[in-house]
Amino acid sequence: MPTPVTIVILAAGLGTRMKSRKAKVLHRAGGRTLVEHVVATARNLAPGDHIFVVVGHQGEQVRQLVAAQGVRFIEQREQKGTGHAVLAGRQDLSGLGGYLVILYGDCPLIRAETLRKLIARMKQSDAGGVLLSARMADPTGYGRVIRDARGHVAAIVEQKAATAEQLAIREANMGIYCFRAPLFWEHAGRIQPHNPAREYYLTDMVEILNRGGHFLEALEVEDTREVLGINNRQELAEADRLFRERKLRELMLGGVTVVKPETVTVDDTVSIGMDTVVEPFAQILGNTKIGENCRIGACTIIRDSVLADEVEIGPFSIVATSGVGRGAVVGPFARLRTGNQVDAGAHIGNFVELKKAHVGAGAKANHLAYLGDTEIGAGTNIGAGTITCNYDGFQKHLTRIGERAFVGSNATLVAPIEIGDGAYLAAGSVITEAVPPDALALGRARQVMKPDWAKKRRALGKK
Ligand code: UD1
Ligand code: CA
Repeated sequence: MPTPVTIVILAAGLGTRMKSRKAKVLHRAGGRTLVEHVVATARNLAPGDHIFVVVGHQGEQVRQLVAAQGVRFIEQREQKGTGHAVLAGRQDLSGLGGYLVILYGDCPLIRAETLRKLIARMKQSDAGGVLLSARMADPTGYGRVIRDARGHVAAIVEQKAATAEQLAIREANMGIYCFRAPLFWEHAGRIQPHNPAREYYLTDMVEILNRGGHFLEALEVEDTREVLGINNRQELAEADRLFRERKLRELMLGGVTVVKPETVTVDDTVSIGMDTVVEPFAQILGNTKIGENCRIGACTIIRDSVLADEVEIGPFSIVATSGVGRGAVVGPFARLRTGNQVDAGAHIGNFVELKKAHVGAGAKANHLAYLGDTEIGAGTNIGAGTITCNYDGFQKHLTRIGERAFVGSNATLVAPIEIGDGAYLAAGSVITEAVPPDALALGRARQVMKPDWAKKRRALGKK
């Protein structure tokens, strides 16, 4: 039986340096809130019932975001520091054996692999705890790691409390620890708010354990980008950039071509198949799945959508909660607003808006149309300027168009309405009655002709 690992994630603070009404861990980077990232990483190391999230500020929102991961929660009613936050879980946690891993909710880039190394080091060592540290070019704001002659960690000194000599130390505390759980709880009660901020610092555990005759080790991370702590909006933007870079690297190594990757935004939750090309400034967000050999045009935004193989989305298109079948072509300048299904080989062209529309295989709507609450059969052609009048001011109604039908340009279809297979609608028609299969429907005023009218008008004007 492997020794159990319990993970505690501190996420109760407001984060005053964010200058926000929203709790810091609810801010987003890489397409997810900070706390979601940390919980997802923790779930790679331990089952949900071994993960405890300390909540306080906007705790209800934090709970809702991560409850589906099966994690447990600890309520910290007043936020009196990182030590106080862990002690809030004393009742639930102090009986546990094995190892206690502590993560901060504002350090979202940490990878499971690095945490595994931390735990492995703890297991090999006789130390009371191991913490993650990093040598930084500019460690301003971080606690400094003070090492003793043996190289063990003697203390962590917060920026505010550090002497000039200590401030010159480049090795910083990352806020990620692994302790022997029974030893931790035996000593944790000794943390006192004896500092200018009157807070209970978790970092005091280092000196406390040292005084108790134990030693601590620091494991230096190689890549300091992984341990960026987010305290303000600038660091938030930096974390976002790093998440994007990480995701794009993964996609490119998996066979996706990304043109000008520094401009492209892809959420962590997205998957993209081989040989797909993503053009500059594209944003691919949420639960989106893209198949192989697709092309995602420049400046296109795709959210929560599923694209089969060989799909082409032209530049400046928006595709939201929609499905697009194999070989279909959408855009440039198309908008699939929500709840659409565009079947294989269909074409949706520029300035066409779809809402809850099902466009059958090979059907085409190539220019300037609004198709809402609409069913369009396979092979049907929708002319430029076609409008489905789906809303009567009170309710939404359906438009059903059969297969291989032809809707002339600038037709207005007043829903609810049904157009049969193979029917023909004359250009400029206002269609208010059902059209049977293979019929021609004209719904427009007959043309009036007045010979020489214009000529006479001009002659009048000259007088
Ligand atoms: C902390 C460390 C510092 C380290 C840095 C790394 C302490 C005393 N200092 O400083 O050594 O270099 O992180 O990023 O631990 N939190 C609670 N309840 C509280 C207070 C904080 O849950 O009462 C949570 C916050 O929501 C946050 C995390 O703990 O996610 C860290 O708190 P923060 O105030 O940002 O600590 P730092 O000052 O950055
Ligand atoms: Ca912090």
